[in-house]
Amino acid sequence: MSKSIPEPATAGIESKDTTVGSVFVSNYPPYSTWNEATVPEVHDALTEKPRKDALLGLYMHIPFCRKRCKFCYFRVYTDKNSSEIDTYLNALAKEIEIYSRQPAIADRPLHFVYFGGGTPSYISVKHLTNLVDRVKKVMPWDAAEEIAFECEPGTLTQKKLEAIKHIGVTRLSLGVENLNDDILAENGRAHLSKEVYRIAPWIQELDFEQVNMDLISGMIGETWESWRDTVKKTIELNPDCVTVYQLELPFNTVYSKDILGGDALPVADWKLKREWHQYAFEQFEKAGYAQSSAYTVIKKDQPSKFVYRDAVWQGNDMIGTGVASFSHLSGIHFQNAPSWGDYLGNLEEDKLPVYRALKLTEAEKLTREMILQLKLGKIRPSYFRAKFNADILKIYAEAYQKLQNDGMLVIKSKSDEIQLTERGLLRVDSLLPEFYAPEYQNTRYT
Ligand SMILES: C[S@@+](CC[C@H](N)C(=O)[O-])C[C@H]1O[C@@H](n2cnc3c(N)ncnc32)[C@H](O)[C@@H]1O
Ligand code: SF4
Repeated sequence: MSKSIPEPATAGIESKDTTVGSVFVSNYPPYSTWNEATVPEVHDALTEKPRKDALLGLYMHIPFCRKRCKFCYFRVYTDKNSSEIDTYLNALAKEIEIYSRQPAIADRPLHFVYFGGGTPSYISVKHLTNLVDRVKKVMPWDAAEEIAFECEPGTLTQKKLEAIKHIGVTRLSLGVENLNDDILAENGRAHLSKEVYRIAPWIQELDFEQVNMDLISGMIGETWESWRDTVKKTIELNPDCVTVYQLELPFNTVYSKDILGGDALPVADWKLKREWHQYAFEQFEKAGYAQSSAYTVIKKDQPSKFVYRDAVWQGNDMIGTGVASFSHLSGIHFQNAPSWGDYLGNLEEDKLPVYRALKLTEAEKLTREMILQLKLGKIRPSYFRAKFNADILKIYAEAYQKLQNDGMLVIKSKSDEIQLTERGLLRVDSLLPEFYAPEYQNTRYT
C-alpha cells in the first residue's frame, strides 16, 4: 500500500508525526523550481562585474564519509578509495581556479570559507594540504573573517587537527549528535562517544576561535533519560557553541526509505522533539549560554558570530564548489551537477559543472532574506526598508497576523521588531511556507 506523502513546501503548522518529506528550510524559492534553461544566465553573470554591495564566500563540498548515517540527507559517498578522492579534489581545485578567473569573482576578497560535507575531516592531511595550497594560490583567505570546517569525531587525529588549525580554521564544528553509544550505533553513526573524549583535549590545546557541537533531538532510540544525559555531558565538554537540530526525514534518507517500504520505525513525534529541544536550550542557558538562532546557543561572554550563516542569510554571494553544491551570485541561485560522473566529466573538459539555476525577482530576494533571517528569532522592518525599499509589515501582513493569532510571533511595530515566540522558534521551519508566493505553495521542496 502506498503511503500518502505531504508536499514539504506546504507541510506547515501542526503535523504531529515525523512523516517522510519534512525539510529544513535552507533556501527560497524551493530547489525543485531551479531549471536548466536558466544556466546560460549564470555564465553571463560570471562574465560581468560583481554587484557592489555583496560580500563573497567560498563553500567547498567534501562528500566522503566513513558510513552513511541512517538519518542523513546529504550527498555523500562511502565507497571511494584514495585515488578517487584524489581525482575529486583535483577537480574541486580546478573548479575554484576557473571561478577565480571570472570577472564576477576575480580579485574579490573572501569574507568566509566553509568546508562542508559529507565529512571534510575524512580526507588525509596530504589531500587536505594539497587542496588548500592550490586553492589559496588563486583565492587567498588569510584576511577572511571565518574559516569553518565540519568534522566527524572518529576521523580526527592529533596530527590532522594540527593541519586543520594550520590552514587557518577558526570555527571547528563537530558532529557529536548524541553521547549514548547504543543510539549512535542504532542510527548508523560511524563514531562512538569515546572518540569525542579522545579528541577533546587536542582541540582544547589547539585553541580554535570557536568550537561548535551538533546534536540531534529525536534520534531513533532516544528517551528522556538518554537525552538529559547527552545534554549534561555536552555542557561538561564546554563547547563555545551548540547547534540542536530536530530530526528531519527528507525523502532520501535510509530511514525514510525503510518507512516508505512499510517499516514501523519508532520515530519521536514533533511535539516530543520540540520538548527535547526546549529542554536542551533551558539547560544550556542555565550553564551560561544564550540563544542566537532557532538552533544555536553560544556562550554568553562571546560575541554571537557565525559569519557563514549571517552572510548567506543576508543575500551575499557564495560560490559553492563540489558535487551538487549550491551557489548564489549576482541575484541568481545555481546548483552543480549532482552526480559524480557529471561533476567530474564537466571539469575534465574545463567547464563549470552548473546544472540548474533560478534568477530571483526582487520580491523573491526579499522573501528569501526575510524567512531565513526569521530563523534568528528576530527581524527589523527597517533593515528591509533600507535594503529593498519595501515595507514587510504591509507585504506579509496577512501571514504575520495569522502567526500572531497562533501565538508564534509578536509584532512590535513601535520598537521596529518582529519577534518569534519560543513556541514559534521551536517550529520555525514549518512556519516559513506561509510566506511563499502562491506559485510555490504546492511545490516539492528539493
Ligand atoms: C555534514 S554533517 C556534519 C559533519 C559530519 N558529516 C558528521 O556528521 O559528523 C551536518 C549535520 O547535519 C545534521 N543532520 C544530518 N541529517 C539530519 C537529519 N535528517 N535531521 C536533522 N539533522 C541532520 C547532523 O547534526 C550533522 O552533524
Ligand atoms: S551525518 Fe555526517 S557523517 Fe553522517 S552520513 Fe551525513 S554527512 Fe556523513
